[in-house]
Amino acid sequence: MDKAQILVASNRGPVSFSINDDGSLTQRRGGGGLVSGLSSVAAETDTLWVCAALSDADRAAVAEAPEGRLDRAGFDLGNMRVRMLDIPPTTFGNAYTAVANSTLWFIHHLLYDTPNKPAYGTEFRAQWEDYRAYNSAFCDALLTGADDNARVAVQDYHLALVPRMARRRRPDLRIAHFQHTPWAPPEYFRMLPEAVRRELLEGMLGADHVGFLSLRWADAFLRCCETFLGTTVNWDKRSLEYGGRVVEVGVHALGADGATLRERAGADDVAERRAALRSRVGDTKLVVRVDRTELSKNIVRGLEAYRELLSTRPEWRGRVTHLAFAYPSRGDVAEYREYTESVRRVAKEINEEFGTADWTPLILEVNDDFPRSLAAYQLADVLLVNPIRDGMNLVAKEGPVLSHDGCALVLSTEAGAADELGADALLVNPFDVSETAEALHTALTMPEEERRARCERLVAAAVALPPHRWFNEQLRALK
Ligand code: G6P
Repeated sequence: MDKAQILVASNRGPVSFSINDDGSLTQRRGGGGLVSGLSSVAAETDTLWVCAALSDADRAAVAEAPEGRLDRAGFDLGNMRVRMLDIPPTTFGNAYTAVANSTLWFIHHLLYDTPNKPAYGTEFRAQWEDYRAYNSAFCDALLTGADDNARVAVQDYHLALVPRMARRRRPDLRIAHFQHTPWAPPEYFRMLPEAVRRELLEGMLGADHVGFLSLRWADAFLRCCETFLGTTVNWDKRSLEYGGRVVEVGVHALGADGATLRERAGADDVAERRAALRSRVGDTKLVVRVDRTELSKNIVRGLEAYRELLSTRPEWRGRVTHLAFAYPSRGDVAEYREYTESVRRVAKEINEEFGTADWTPLILEVNDDFPRSLAAYQLADVLLVNPIRDGMNLVAKEGPVLSHDGCALVLSTEAGAADELGADALLVNPFDVSETAEALHTALTMPEEERRARCERLVAAAVALPPHRWFNEQLRALK
């Protein structure tokens, strides 16, 4: 084989499935930075993508297809091959829901309500065994057929143990690990059991290059390595020596894919939704937010800030509408179900408190409608992105790119995106509801010229690091 080989591993794959009229199964390329980043090099490389998770809709499609069922051993998707692992449901549930989403995600986003959780007992120990087994299944699949010196790009907190597992069996491979979330500071990371902390850090240090979306997260990781492994970090180079090898830590911010996004937003389904939204909200100003129903996105405090705006600045009543669009997410975690309920409850309260016969202050939709989100970006006067903590946050970048008249951006200091957008966004402490309410008012009253000029600069910063550059940087770091 002449072409250089690239192997990618991620929990969720680059593909979605649907059933044709004749009952056969079609696979389509999904969205996201990693998919477009990888597609840009897939033509010149021999690329295999190993993944495991199926969305509920995909699982239903696969189960329904009598013919041409999913060939998990490998199928072609454009220029790449995809292998979907068939992980036993209990193992997958323990690895994905219990360890990855209910433990590691909580740790890195500082989400624990500590008087009650976490409590790492025997149940967690068993779940951790399954996390290991799941990582090991990925490692096996990657190594099957890996050429000499192949480059391996392992993604995210689901697969922290894979680099070390692969390195032990195949020292010739060049391995990268990329973390898409923030990284917890040592003072918070220390909540994890000692052996788990060590296994996670050592697992990632099996890579040659460990990448993060922001310097803040890279530094937190290095501080954890110092604190829990006793390593000496070379802070000038952001590298450290561990197990006789040098591991580099890099920062690779990810930007919006401007061209692809604009093309998608030009489609008829987006125009239809834009017209429908406009007729629903009349000529009121629009404050828009788009998130997964995700604890770290801080939707409730965002709604509270809107409530405070309406109560302290009554001049906005009847003149503004808040569109809050939330994609359902991680419904198998109790905290997420409860959180979604509180979002609905607060939204209802706001409409009951301020709504009138001809004005609905807030439109909350909890469902999956991507073209409607794009239409909302186009119409937004103000975009609100206020996560408690976020690896990057692409809404903050994609919104301005699509906004028709230049939106103002209210942005949490705790999103990785604030590194690049901070100069032209209105930055807020995500816990400070009053400050957020005041920022909404400033955004809504910003002189047009200033708003457009700021938005132009936001767009320039947002598209400066498109996915293909982001992915290529990571590959270059492995040379
Ligand atoms: C974050 C993570 C991704 C994950 C995504 C959606 O962006 O970094 O790895 O795929 O959230 O979450 P889900 O649990 O639905 O895959």
